[in-house]
Amino acid sequence: MNDVGPKLIDRALSAARRGLGRTGLAPPNGAALYVPDRAGVRTAALTGPGGDWPAVRLLPKAGPGAVLGLVVEPTSDRVDVLRKAGVTEVWLAGLHPDPPRRRRFVKKAERAGLKVVVTDDPRVTELHEVYNHATARKRAYVVLKMATSIDGRNATRAGHSQWITGPRARAAGRRLRAELDAILVGIDTVLADDPQLTARRKGVRDPVRVILDSRLRLPVGANVVQTARHVPTIVLTTRRASASAKAVLGALGVEVATVRSDKQGRVNVAAAAEWLLAEGLPGLLVEGGGTVHGAFVDAGIVDRVVWFGAPMLLGGQGLSAVGGRGPAKLAEALRFTRWTVRRIDTDWRIDLRR
Ligand SMILES: NC(=O)c1ccc[n+]([C@@H]2O[C@H](COP(=O)([O-])OP(=O)(O)OC[C@H]3O[C@@H](n4cnc5c(N)ncnc54)[C@H](OP(=O)(O)O)[C@@H]3O)[C@@H](O)[C@H]2O)c1
Repeated sequence: MNDVGPKLIDRALSAARRGLGRTGLAPPNGAALYVPDRAGVRTAALTGPGGDWPAVRLLPKAGPGAVLGLVVEPTSDRVDVLRKAGVTEVWLAGLHPDPPRRRRFVKKAERAGLKVVVTDDPRVTELHEVYNHATARKRAYVVLKMATSIDGRNATRAGHSQWITGPRARAAGRRLRAELDAILVGIDTVLADDPQLTARRKGVRDPVRVILDSRLRLPVGANVVQTARHVPTIVLTTRRASASAKAVLGALGVEVATVRSDKQGRVNVAAAAEWLLAEGLPGLLVEGGGTVHGAFVDAGIVDRVVWFGAPMLLGGQGLSAVGGRGPAKLAEALRFTRWTVRRIDTDWRIDLRR
């Protein structure tokens, strides 16, 4: 196979993406193996927290002259295993994120006679953005997702929001759910829409559902409560919640956790993001409504925005997709430095990163 190394890196990266939102506090990782004179490329990915190094599953299928593509360099003690399996060449999309471990594998492998190529692929940074954030900060990485009219409204003045964007944009939004560990909404979205908050795709893991509900107004008949035994569901509340409401929800399989409140006596969103990371949920998708979006924006803890925009105007009394106070000065506005724009049928998708 010509140019086998770059192809293996592509395959290892797409395998690793299967683990997005599933690897807990470990970085998503993937491997791809090519053995000369054998058809095809085999791949493996890390798809759960605490899983083994994905290449381990491929090595029994290796043989003399095997080439391995990896997302990041492994620990240096893997060199002997690779050599014994017949691997002679290793292509790395990136180096280990931890500086003390950086290049240790590369040096040892080269000393042992393996050819090592490091490509410094920029796709690794994107793949590991949640992991890198989790290792550097004390709170979950926050992605704000909105589907709005071009004047930034996510519902009409009567609260109707289904549907502002078209089916393909909505499907893209659901795919995003599967890539993050948890999805969060405010209690008023649950009361208005009674959503499922699942990825709604066969064979695709659902994110943990999180509801901000300071007084436990969540009705026991809500979809999220009725399905809590199948899809993990957490309600973050405050000391204002009654013990009896906690017990009722707990008996139905909902986890109820009390976190710090803010000045208005609501769930403190920074405390919520810290709590989620401590629970092993490093990537959080915030899906509304505008009141909760505003709380995250005012707290300055939005790392990425995924905006689905429809060519529609809903006017001043439509519900704003971002409430809260907002800054008084432009210099204090939450700004994003990197973005991509894509058209999806008659809608747009804009991804913004800090
Ligand atoms: N187009 C879309 O994509 C989309 C997506 C989602 C929602 N929506 C629409 O948005 C509307 C609901 O949005 P909403 O803005 O009224 O409500 P929301 O943001 O869903 O929920 C707000 C509620 O969350 C609770 N909360 C707990 N901690 C909070 C905090 N720190 N900051 C803010 N709120 C906190 C508060 O109730 P407690 O004080 O009782 O805790 C608050 O009233 C519905 O009409 C829905 O259809 C549209």
